[in-house]
This record gives sequence, structure tokens and C-alpha cells, in this order.
Amino acid sequence: MSGREVRILLDGAAVNCTEGLPLTEVLSARAPGWRYSPKLGAPRGMFCGMGLCMECAVEVDGRWTRACLERVRPDMNVRTGMAE
Ligand code: FES
Repeated sequence: MSGREVRILLDGAAVNCTEGLPLTEVLSARAPGWRYSPKLGAPRGMFCGMGLCMECAVEVDGRWTRACLERVRPDMNVRTGMAE
């Protein structure tokens, strides 16, 4: 982790954050409950924190992934389920 300040796009908005941070840290601070349960409409976010549950699903640079397995890198484009 370099610790340098980088810019990412989070649901279309520019956000400055530290390179190498777990993406879930950025999402927890900026977009808590970053998607909704399709069944109940309740806010969802990180649960297991180790890539098993898929509760933290987000789109990064056009592909769906687990936010808990992603690290912040310059110019990454992150879309949460809250953007729709
Ligand atoms: S929090 Fe469970 S897969 Fe990311």
C-alpha cells in the first residue's frame, strides 16, 4: 500500500481516498448500506469481509466483483447498487 491520495469515481462522483485501502472502507464511509436487498428492500453491505457471502457486490470498471476483495487504485470506477 503506497498511502498516496488518488481519485476514484463512486457512483459517478469523484472521491479522493488512499491508494491500497480496502474498497469496503471507502464504501462504509461514503455509502453505508451500498445496495438493497432485492427481496426486502433493506440496505445491505459488508458481512463476511473475506469474499464468501457476496453481500458486498459492486461493479468495478464494468465488472461485478466483491468489494471486500478490492483495493483502491487510481481512477477505478465503482458503481454500487444504490446508483440505480
Ligand atoms: S463481505 Fe462477504 S463477500 Fe465481501
